[in-house]
Amino acid sequence: MSEQPLLTPYRLGDLELANRIVMAPLTRMRAHPVDHVPTAVMAEYYAQRATAGLIISEAIAISPDGFGWADTAGLWSPEHVRGWRQVTDEVHKRGGKIIAQLWHTGAISHPELRDGAVPLSASDVDPGQVSVTREGRKPTVAPRPMTTEEIQTTVRDYARAARNAIEAGFDGVQVLANYLYLIAQFMNLSTNRRTDAYGGALENRARFLFEVVESVVETVGNKRTGIKLSPMHEGGAFAANEETLPIAEYAIQKLSGYHLSHLLLMGNMTDFTGTPLQKLTGDGMFEHFRPLYEGTLIANVMMDRDRGNRLISSGLADLVAFGRPFISNPDLVERYKIGAPLADVDWTTVYASDATGYSDYPMSQPI
Ligand SMILES: Cc1cc2nc3c(=O)[nH]c(=O)nc-3n(C[C@H](O)[C@H](O)[C@H](O)COP(=O)(O)O)c2cc1C
Repeated sequence: MSEQPLLTPYRLGDLELANRIVMAPLTRMRAHPVDHVPTAVMAEYYAQRATAGLIISEAIAISPDGFGWADTAGLWSPEHVRGWRQVTDEVHKRGGKIIAQLWHTGAISHPELRDGAVPLSASDVDPGQVSVTREGRKPTVAPRPMTTEEIQTTVRDYARAARNAIEAGFDGVQVLANYLYLIAQFMNLSTNRRTDAYGGALENRARFLFEVVESVVETVGNKRTGIKLSPMHEGGAFAANEETLPIAEYAIQKLSGYHLSHLLLMGNMTDFTGTPLQKLTGDGMFEHFRPLYEGTLIANVMMDRDRGNRLISSGLADLVAFGRPFISNPDLVERYKIGAPLADVDWTTVYASDATGYSDYPMSQPI
């Protein structure tokens, strides 16, 4: 079985990965609720998964303004850096590699998470989503449009978080640019109604993304900067529209020129039938974008061992990211190696608050 493509080494920027199995970013809400510092159980959880060729951390808030999901961690203070250092040290002790996912939630945050302040975004459009507050899930509210100065501050906040990530021992960073968060709020026609240089034509709506990427690259280097970007079809203001695919094509093609560490491309999480993204269903996403992006492509969503091996052998992906399988199978790499069955996720504890359903999933055999 050792000839499985997933189990072969890979050079990512200047990192030597032991295999091509990537742990996808997974928010698990185990950080300190008040100061947003990573907890000891988080170090244990990530260490258990260090046999992945690469771990992408859960999304981490770059700044107090970027914070917008209860019990998640930050990367803007020295305490955050010290907390994350414990995580990265434990992963490195076991020979693993880990990068930090940089997150600004924008309009997905909620006044309850911001001492009453309204969240910031491109425009004042309520994205029609759910905010996760300490008191539970609440409907999102209409955000306040960012001033040009606030945009520039936010760009610098990304750079500071990237610098902090390296100081905390991360092997690199990934800018989270898809899903429902701030960068996606700028890129999406429905949530960006600006009339300045950051709104209107798709090149303008992508301007914020490129300013963020450039400031992060300037700070930590292109080889240590990756991106997560892909067109999506979600609810509310994030239903795919006629501009969803063109702006993703524009951005992904242009990103090739930055020679980044990687592009993490998600396949469809929802049903694309009848939407402008229909042809991207299944492997269609990777077939469409592979020729548009020069560089390491990480394929994700509903992967299993056979599909992962097939995507690598066919050249559609270089690495394959697994999210849900890593929740309940800390030793996913070993299980794929020996063909052991996978354990199921207990969904009642995915967003719980302690080790139960987090760092207590058993290994298939002692390591
Ligand atoms: C519990 C949970 C938390 C997630 N948190 C994040 C996150 O913090 N950042 C992110 O980019 N994606 C996040 N995702 C998406 C996953 O990274 C991944 O794209 C998705 O689960 C599909 O991959 P899979 O089919 O292998 O699970 C999350 C998914 C789940 C199930």
